[in-house]
Amino acid sequence: MAGEKIRVMIVDDVAETREQLRKLLTFDADIQVVAMAGSGEDAIKTVASAQPDVVLMDINLPGIDGITATGKLLEVLPTAQVVMLSVQGESDYMRRAMMAGARDFLTKPPSADELIDAIHRMAKLKPIRSGDILAPAAGMGSGGAGLGAAARRGKIITLFSPKGGTGCTTTAVNLAIALQSSVGPETKVGLIDLSLQFGDVAVFMKLQPTRTIADLASRANEMDAELLATVMMPHPSGIKVLAAPPSPEDAESLLTADVVDEAGGNRLVKSILKFTRQEFDYLIIDTSHAVDNVMLALLDLSDMLLVVLRPVIPEIRGARMFLDLLQKMNYPMEKAGLVINYVDNKRMGIQPEAIERAMMPALVRIPLDERIALTAANYGVPFVVKEPRSPISQALIKLAQVIDKQFAEETVESAQPAETQRRMGLGRLL
Ligand SMILES: Nc1ncnc2c1ncn2[C@@H]1O[C@H](COP(=O)(O)OP(=O)(O)OP(=O)(O)O)[C@@H](O)[C@H]1O
Ligand SMILES: [Mg+2]
Repeated sequence: MAGEKIRVMIVDDVAETREQLRKLLTFDADIQVVAMAGSGEDAIKTVASAQPDVVLMDINLPGIDGITATGKLLEVLPTAQVVMLSVQGESDYMRRAMMAGARDFLTKPPSADELIDAIHRMAKLKPIRSGDILAPAAGMGSGGAGLGAAARRGKIITLFSPKGGTGCTTTAVNLAIALQSSVGPETKVGLIDLSLQFGDVAVFMKLQPTRTIADLASRANEMDAELLATVMMPHPSGIKVLAAPPSPEDAESLLTADVVDEAGGNRLVKSILKFTRQEFDYLIIDTSHAVDNVMLALLDLSDMLLVVLRPVIPEIRGARMFLDLLQKMNYPMEKAGLVINYVDNKRMGIQPEAIERAMMPALVRIPLDERIALTAANYGVPFVVKEPRSPISQALIKLAQVIDKQFAEETVESAQPAETQRRMGLGRLL
C-alpha cells in the first residue's frame, strides 16, 4: 500500500475510549481513522462504505458483542483485519475471537506503540478468502503477513503434524541440515525442538545437550546473544540446535497456565523465538502434535507452516481438520504447505495425487525408506549426512532448495508493492 494511508475503523461503545484511540492514532501519519462506531450493529452497517483496512474492535459491546460483530463484519468486508481489544481477564474469549476471524489482540488501554505496531502489522496481512485452501494453484505466497519485509529477520519454518509418528522430527532435522548445506556457512540455520515434553531432536542428531530450552524459561524476557549461544548446541553440519527439556517435568516451567497470553499463545515461547530469529537466517521448528499454547504462539510467528502426513486416511483426515481449523482462524493459508512422507508407489496407500487434490499441492513427497530412516534414527546420524544421494535425502534437499528459493525471492521482491507480492507463490516454483 505504498503511498496510501492505512484506513482504520474504531468500534467501542464508550465515546471517550473511541476518542482516546483516535487521538493515539494521530501520532502516525500513515494511519487514517475513517470511521468510528458505538456498537457492533453500527459497525456492520458502516463497514462497507468506510472500507477500513483494519478494525479495532472492543470485545464487550452492548447488543451484539465484539466477537459476533467481527464474524458478521468480515462477511461484509472479508479484506478487513480485526484487532480485538479487551480488558485483562477476558482471555477465555480469545479463542472464540480467533475463530470468528480476529487477527490480533490488545489489552485495554493499549499504548500508542502497541496500537500503531498492531495496525501496521495488520495492514500487511493478506486477507484470506474461503476457497483459497482448495485452489490447486495456491502455494506459499510471499506476501503473507508482510513477512518478507525485514531482510535480516530470520524465517521461521514450523513442522507440524496432528498425529504422532508421521516423520515430523525426521523432516525437521534433515531439512535443517540440507538447508544449511544449500545456503552455505555464511547463512545461519537453527533448529529448535518445541516438542517440549517428549522432544527427541537431540537423539536424532546424537547430541547430548548440557543446556536446553528449559534453561531459558526464567530468562525469556531478557534474552541476549551470549545467553542464546550457551544454550544452542552446535552440530557438525553447522546448524545450531536448541534442544527440548531433558524430561517432561522439566518442561513444566515453560508450560504453566500463567505463561499464556491473551491470544492463547505461549508468551515465553514467543519471547524466545522473537529474540532467536534475530540471530539466525532460518529457524526450523519441530513440534508436538497438539494445537496448544506453544502451537498458537508458532502460528503467530511462523513464516511457513509445513503439515506432515503419511498417505493413510486417519492422517489425511487429521491434516484436513487442522487446515480447516486454520482457515476458520483466518490464518493466512498461503503460509501453509504440505509434506507427504512415506510415499511408496509399490505399496497400498492413498495416492499422493489424491491427497493433493483434496488439500493442496505438496511441497515435497518423501519416499518411504525404512532401512535408511530407521538406521538414521537409531544411530543419530541424519540421512542427508550419511546417504545424501539416496532418494529420501534428495527429497529433503529439494525441499530445502524450494524453501530457500522462496525466501530469497521474497527478500528481493519485498521492495515491490504488496499487490505484486501477493500474486507470487510457490505454486510457480513447483
Ligand atoms: N520416509 C520414511 N521412511 C521410513 N521411515 C521413516 C520415514 N520418515 C520417518 N520414518 C521413521 O518413522 C519414525 C517416526 O519418525 P519421526 O520421529 O520423525 O516422527 P514424528 O512425527 O516426529 O513422531 P513423534 O510422534 O515421536 O513426534 C522414525 O523411526 C523414523 O525413522
Ligand atoms: Mg517428533
